[in-house]
Amino acid sequence: MTDNVFGDEAAEHERLLRLPSLPPFDPSDRVESAVIGALAGSWPRRAVVKRPEPDLDDLFDPAKADYPQTLIPFHDHDLFAKVDEPTRDRVLAWAWIGYNKNVMDVEQYVVNPGFRLLSQDAFGTGLGDPLTIATMQAMVDEQYHTLMHLNASALTRRRRGWDLPESRLPYGPTVRHHRAAVDAADSPRGAALVSLAFTTVAETSISSYLGLMTDDEDLQPVNRATVVLHRRDEYCHSSIAGELLKIVFERLGGDDRRILLAGLADGLEAFRSNDFATWSAVLEHENVRGADRIVAAAAHDAGRQRLVQDCSAIRRLCDDLGVSDDVPYEWS
Ligand SMILES: [Fe+2]
Ligand SMILES: [Fe+2]
Repeated sequence: MTDNVFGDEAAEHERLLRLPSLPPFDPSDRVESAVIGALAGSWPRRAVVKRPEPDLDDLFDPAKADYPQTLIPFHDHDLFAKVDEPTRDRVLAWAWIGYNKNVMDVEQYVVNPGFRLLSQDAFGTGLGDPLTIATMQAMVDEQYHTLMHLNASALTRRRRGWDLPESRLPYGPTVRHHRAAVDAADSPRGAALVSLAFTTVAETSISSYLGLMTDDEDLQPVNRATVVLHRRDEYCHSSIAGELLKIVFERLGGDDRRILLAGLADGLEAFRSNDFATWSAVLEHENVRGADRIVAAAAHDAGRQRLVQDCSAIRRLCDDLGVSDDVPYEWS
């Protein structure tokens, strides 16, 4: 089972990406896309939700860490270095719980609401059946990913025998900024465009977020398997979300485009951020001495403010649209 879990389907995805892209625009036609049509057609045999579930209990290795120490933004802080090993292990488990909570919250409060707008053709784009079906499939995938990450957190709590309730943790930066941006929109259409922007950022960047957990063999195999399986679907979602954004964008007026591009910048800033509010909650919960100072030092260090370094997918998307210079964002 382990071999299957860690297998690679990138070649199939690459093949699909080489299919022709947008058809010529004809306003009397329903909009179609060969790439998305092919991805929708392959969903029954590629989607993780369609496959047998791995036995997570079998994969659990109590000797392995639940989260990479190097991803803790203050892992090398003097005060944190003095934390005893049992507490450090609990902090790593908390970090995994927080990571899962962020994934689940982004899927439930950001991604699926944006996909829902697309599935309802909220922008009046005239999406044909294959595009609507692909969007609905992605929503099913997201619901299943949320369950996968919930199961992984539940397993961590059960096998470690620790009470690590995610209800003690705040919402992450993407959900917080998404809410603020939607609330600040001037109109329902503006709010929908902001939602679409955040969904697109999340869907084109989540592979990088999931990739943070994937490669280290010293990590808990259950956690790696959960992330690897999730990431398979997200390679396809990235293509679907990117194509849909292009299709919608090309049919928007100038004001709507500006709102959408500002939303992309806002979404990128939020999605890439380290979540210091969650780290504060974790250290306080574990009564770590000097928690405030430890977190503040990392939060004020410009080199540690970002967790996700790679935003190349959204940059490529904006390059394809010829609007990278119009996005109010400092690309790096
Ligand atoms: Fe997902
Ligand atoms: Fe996704």
